[in-house]
Amino acid sequence: MSVPAKIGIVTVSDRASRGEYEDRGGPAVREYLERVVVSPFETIAHIVADETGLIVETLLELSDQAGCCLAITTGGTGPAPRDVTPEATAMVCERMLPGFAEAMRAESLRFVPTAVLSRQTVGTRGSCLIINLPGSPKAVAECLDAVFAAVPYCIDLLGGPYLETDPAHVTAFRPRQSDQGPSTS
Ligand code: MTE
Repeated sequence: MSVPAKIGIVTVSDRASRGEYEDRGGPAVREYLERVVVSPFETIAHIVADETGLIVETLLELSDQAGCCLAITTGGTGPAPRDVTPEATAMVCERMLPGFAEAMRAESLRFVPTAVLSRQTVGTRGSCLIINLPGSPKAVAECLDAVFAAVPYCIDLLGGPYLETDPAHVTAFRPRQSDQGPSTS
């Protein structure tokens, strides 16, 4: 039995962190993963306020301590003064992958003109891929559908676990034949 991959889910919201508002973004991310990822994985969920320090601390815990291969945040990507998720993500990441955010914003524009308001960003820290999503629960699938085909191969390249997806939803794209299965060595 392979060890389940660990995936972090971080809801960034002042109101959800105070319990004034039901967290709908985090569960939407988990539901998306349960629908799309068919290899074993477990999720580690956090709800934090829109505070740079708390977001940084949470992302460091997920990548460095928990060993997540993927951490997905939802919320705090807009232009409002309290929106700091992209800044916190950039502080944690060693390298940025701008193509992910470009693709998500471009796809999101097909759904809402306000997609351009999201400053969502994506990068890597060690072997963890960190993806920001807007806070709207419907934005979760709208954004992830635009990029998820590239997520498993990105995690391969970072040295993480071999993630498999359900082709009925998303076909993971791995460019080389030699990348078509988990290593048996
Ligand atoms: N992207 C998608 N796919 N769907 C959406 O509903 N909402 C937009 C944008 N991106 C949205 C979207 C809006 S209204 C805002 S303000 C920004 O994301 C930032 O949202 P956030 O501050 O909750 O992260």
